[in-house]
Amino acid sequence: MTSLECKKVSMKFGALAAVQMVSFSLNSGEILGMIGPNGAGKTTLFNCVIGVYRPTSGKIYVNGIDVTGMKPHKVCRIGLAKTSQIMEPFTGMTVFENVLVGALHGGRMKMGPASYKTEQVIELVGLNEYAYKLSGSIPVPVRRRLELARAIATGANILLLDENMAGLNPHEIDEALEILKKIRDSGKSLIVVEHIMRVVMGISDRIIVLNYGSKIAEGLPEEVVNNEAVIKAYLGEKLSSLKVA
Ligand SMILES: Nc1ncnc2c1ncn2[C@@H]1O[C@H](COP(=O)(O)OP(=O)(O)O)[C@@H](O)[C@H]1O
Ligand SMILES: [Mg+2]
Repeated sequence: MTSLECKKVSMKFGALAAVQMVSFSLNSGEILGMIGPNGAGKTTLFNCVIGVYRPTSGKIYVNGIDVTGMKPHKVCRIGLAKTSQIMEPFTGMTVFENVLVGALHGGRMKMGPASYKTEQVIELVGLNEYAYKLSGSIPVPVRRRLELARAIATGANILLLDENMAGLNPHEIDEALEILKKIRDSGKSLIVVEHIMRVVMGISDRIIVLNYGSKIAEGLPEEVVNNEAVIKAYLGEKLSSLKVA
C-alpha cells in the first residue's frame, strides 16, 4: 500500500527552482532514503510534503488523501510528521512533557491515552533514563531521540527524518540505526535524509537522489551507488568512505 505519493512537485522561491517536478512514492512499512548535495532541495521537498510550503505545482497524497497546500497540523492528523534538521524542543520542559505535547497536540489525544502513548514511545526510542530531565540539559544524541519521539507520539504512520543523525559518533549512529529499525518494525514508514552513506545504505529499502531540485535517480541502494549521474553529482567524494563501511 502506498502511504505517501508526490506527483510532479515543484517549489520556486522567486526565480530559484528549489524543487523541480519531483515524483516518488513511499510504500507502507518502507524506509526510503533521500540523498543529494547541500542545496539539492531535500528540506524544501519535506517542507512541501508536511505543509510548511504550498508547492508551486504538483500534488501530494498522504494515506490516499490529497494534502496539497494543507496546513502542517492537519497533515499531521492525516498521518505525517517530520523531525527537524534544527532541533527545537521546549527546553524548559522535561523529556516526558515534550513527548506528551506531541501526543496531545499532534495526535489530539486526551490526557490519559496521551500519557500512555508517551510512556510507550519513550520506551521505544530508549529515553527512559532521561524522561524526567529537562530537555535543555540533555546531550545532543538524546535530543535527537527526543525529536524522533515527539514525531512518533503524534501517532503519524509516516515519519520524515531530516538529518536526524548529524553530529553523532559511530557508536551513537549504530544505536540510532537500531532505533530506526524498531520504529519501522512498529509499523511506520520512513523517509530518511542523511549524508552518512553507511546509514543510508544500511537502512534504506530504496533510495532517491536529488540534485539541483530534480530527482536524478531512484532505485535499490546498490543500483543508486553505481549510477554514473549520482557518482558525478554527489557520491564522488563519498565512495571511499562507503567502501570502508
Ligand atoms: N525559504 C527559502 N527562501 C529562498 N530560498 C530557499 C529557501 N529555502 C531553501 N532555499 C533554497 O532552495 C535550495 C534548496 O535548499 P534546501 O531544500 O535547504 O536543500 P537541502 O536540504 O537539500 O540542502 C537552496 O538553493 C536554498 O538556498
Ligand atoms: Mg536540508
